[in-house]
Amino acid sequence: MAHELVVILDCGGHYSQLIARRVREANVYCEVYPYRVAQERIQGKNPKALILTGGTKETYEKDAEGVNKALFDLGIPMLGIYYGPEQVEEGSNVIPTLIQSDHVSNLYTVQLNATLIHTTHCDDVIHNFLYEVADLAGDWNMEAFAEKSIQALREKIGNKKVLCALSGGVDSSVAAVLIHKAVGSQLTCIFVDHGLMRKHEGDEVEHTFKEQFNMNLVRVNAEDRFLDKLAGITDPETKRKIIGEEFIRVFEEEAKKIGTVDFLVQGTIYPDVIESGASDSGTMIKSHHNVGGLPDHVDFKEIIEPLQELFKDEVRALGRVLHIPDMLVDRQPFPGPGLGIRVIGDITKEKLDILREADYIYRDEIAKAGLDKKIWQYFVVLTNLRSVGVTDGKRTYHYTVALRGVTSIDGMTADWARIPFEVLEKISRRITKEAPNINRVVYDITSKPPATIEWE
Ligand code: XMP
Repeated sequence: MAHELVVILDCGGHYSQLIARRVREANVYCEVYPYRVAQERIQGKNPKALILTGGTKETYEKDAEGVNKALFDLGIPMLGIYYGPEQVEEGSNVIPTLIQSDHVSNLYTVQLNATLIHTTHCDDVIHNFLYEVADLAGDWNMEAFAEKSIQALREKIGNKKVLCALSGGVDSSVAAVLIHKAVGSQLTCIFVDHGLMRKHEGDEVEHTFKEQFNMNLVRVNAEDRFLDKLAGITDPETKRKIIGEEFIRVFEEEAKKIGTVDFLVQGTIYPDVIESGASDSGTMIKSHHNVGGLPDHVDFKEIIEPLQELFKDEVRALGRVLHIPDMLVDRQPFPGPGLGIRVIGDITKEKLDILREADYIYRDEIAKAGLDKKIWQYFVVLTNLRSVGVTDGKRTYHYTVALRGVTSIDGMTADWARIPFEVLEKISRRITKEAPNINRVVYDITSKPPATIEWE
């Protein structure tokens, strides 16, 4: 797809993806490469500008030395970004500016720091560079992307058959709808309902894709199978492995009924492609699956990854352009193994049902308090602990649930969310009253690290 391209060369530091997202938000398409990328690969892509992002001034300058000098000779505008100590006093209004190099006329540098990178000053610098220095038009937006991809998918798929594992997560949902817009009933989606979803979730997924989008959706109700396999299992990694493997097995069985297909859809997104080093080797395929790897026994000829150029925010924006309901597009991250890793210890249907009720109440109250867009992820964990309580003057011996709520950028690190006490109080009261067999509610006040977001 032809749009203006800016190439970002990653010269160390941790900000290349963040800068890339800022560039995309400024309506310019960009790709991230390691700084040692072969010059021919970049030149062949005909970039309109280069951005070098590095760590400290010293490491940036060292790595920038390693960038193939032929790239400097392309004659296109270049911006070097490195990270300095706080060069502005806290609270002062000094705006970082582009500094033109004395030696190379098309090279500008700017020093940012950890504070500035998250502010509009950073956007201003990038905006100035893209529009004032590089004189770009800014032709990247999700409407255009949707239109062009649908056209390209139509050409690629022709009259062939496509198969997609739909989980109800954002990526697989957007990928499926995009392909459906391109080739309609040539796409079949398989939705494996493992019985580990949240309250009403399976029905919502089925309803959305079948009724609203009129898609070929096969829902497999495999709850019993999963619960049989999981009976008595307490080790977290074993649970994950069983769920992942069983998922593949159920998917394979259903796929077999459909027969040979030409394409299998993967919801791979751009961060997966960058992290896998694929941008270095030139291959764009990563065996990444939300639950557990690629199926071995599905007859398909090629993998199709329609979201591989997009960051998560862009996938959501594309979902909105495609009129996918907010409930799916704004969905908080949800692990592939689902509630299976939120019931601590052995999993039973009874425990899952208790957890589903408590989790439903938690989500309801968080939304009512207007916090649902502010907290990155929030959920209930059914701990394996029971404790003594009292209800209506009678002794109870029921479960303790833990509420988890975190703020995060990408799930790699997280801070516990400061949910107001009044909201927590309401949630606790409702859970102990309305959800069965729970007499104690605790709030998890641990960040990641040292804890992880999920308990298992
Ligand atoms: P942890 O618990 O490792 O989780 O701090 C980080 C983020 O990843 C999600 N998560 C998963 N997502 N499959 C997924 O697709 C999984 O197996 C899985 N395990 C954890 C978790 O919910 C959090 O957002």
